[in-house]
Amino acid sequence: MNTAATQPPELTTLPFEGMAKEAVFDALASFKKADVPWRSGRMLGYTYDPGEDPMSVAQEAYMQCLTENGLDWSVFPSMHKMETDIIHILRELLRGDDEVVGSCTSGGTESILCAVKAARDYGRVHKPHIVEPEMVLPETAHGAFHKACLYFNVKPVLTGYDPGTFLADVDSIRDAITKNTILIVASAPGYAQGVIDPIRKIGEVALEKNVLFHVDACVGGIHLSFMRRMGYDLPDFDFTVPGVTSISLDMHKYGYAPKNISSVLYRRKDLRFFQYFSNRRNTCYALVNPAILSTKSGGPYAGAWAILHYLGESGYRTIIKKVQDATNRCVAGINAIDGLRVLGKPDMCMFSFTSEGFNIFELADKVREKSFYMQPQFTHGNTPANLHVSLGHGTADSVDAALAMLREAVAEVKANPNPIDLELVRGTVHKMLADLGENAGDALRAMAGISEGGLPTQMALINSVFDALPNELAENMLSDYMNQVFV
Ligand SMILES: Cc1ncc(COP(=O)(O)O)c(C=O)c1O
Repeated sequence: MNTAATQPPELTTLPFEGMAKEAVFDALASFKKADVPWRSGRMLGYTYDPGEDPMSVAQEAYMQCLTENGLDWSVFPSMHKMETDIIHILRELLRGDDEVVGSCTSGGTESILCAVKAARDYGRVHKPHIVEPEMVLPETAHGAFHKACLYFNVKPVLTGYDPGTFLADVDSIRDAITKNTILIVASAPGYAQGVIDPIRKIGEVALEKNVLFHVDACVGGIHLSFMRRMGYDLPDFDFTVPGVTSISLDMHKYGYAPKNISSVLYRRKDLRFFQYFSNRRNTCYALVNPAILSTKSGGPYAGAWAILHYLGESGYRTIIKKVQDATNRCVAGINAIDGLRVLGKPDMCMFSFTSEGFNIFELADKVREKSFYMQPQFTHGNTPANLHVSLGHGTADSVDAALAMLREAVAEVKANPNPIDLELVRGTVHKMLADLGENAGDALRAMAGISEGGLPTQMALINSVFDALPNELAENMLSDYMNQVFV
């Protein structure tokens, strides 16, 4: 091992002599310098920080089980123990009875893929007339369902929502169900506006039509379950609702576990059976995978187990009280800023707000300039472009600073003499598409200022152009862009 402390300027090739330990860690630290500093509490999304002490416990547990392999729990019974404990706890939170079972997965997306795969294969056995399976989902449902449809050859049938409340439209769900429907989907809450769909009413439709019903509680299910236990007034969304057959619930979001860990729970074992995959058709060991991954680290399982047991119910309750109080202040504070408006009525600590009279994407850049981060979301039908805020334990204390920053940022954007006019961008994009058709890609990239291999620091123009693009073209350009950025 080379002990020289110097590190080569470029680290993209494999050194012949290994680097010194300090140089390895120095290099990693230098890579993180450009990341948004989430520890400051000013990154209102993406990270879920339970506080230094609980996080250090979860991280230590994570490291202790990092090398254990969940591929074979008969060799690593610790993996079986941690998983069954976690599922027991989550089942209780979701008020499931002893029949409810589940699996841990690597994240919300894997949980959703599993639920869709299980529903499709359940349909193959119990509704063999279905050859072209369909899934009914509101337009507010997460993109992971569209991914699942693509991967498992299920047709997504989109249904509407109320543009004022963002609640899924139950009648359009009922109308969209056909003899080919294998699954209905709703969210508790939807990520974008933090609103719980009318789960009870959709459950009635699911029973009436004899269709499986998945509730996506990935982002908020844990937070909401504790809120309910604490007496907050919330609509039911869990296994107490007749008709709900599966629920996805992430530990690595408002469970405050280190990434990557989520779960998917089923009302009965015979439903979960269709999620599993076994194979013995080759010269290899027999494969028995409960979810999508095969080899998997014990780290996330230990991290999740540790955070649940270290925080305990009282730890979560303390967090939730603090976060909900901060959310109420934040929503009221944003609504009080002239030109900003919170969309809908969020049920928990996530929400979005839009702007009136100026371009919200310019505000997003200003927010970033002021060392905060709020996530831009594009226009969708009648829903205007907006910025998303997820508050949590690590960000709740920054609310007053965030409001002061927003007041300043809005004033600066309004004073900007050269705003990017969204309507003008939209008109130019439409004209380019009309004139150049399929060949518009290069012109659009040039207009957005996307250069090969890097992101511009100012995202407002790029976001404004993407906002104006039709879905398919925007998706194509996003994949193409990522394809350029990564080796
Ligand atoms: C409601 C909802 N479902 C699913 C997902 C996907 O989760 P993951 O990013 O862990 O795959 C998210 C992510 O934010 C979400 O908010």
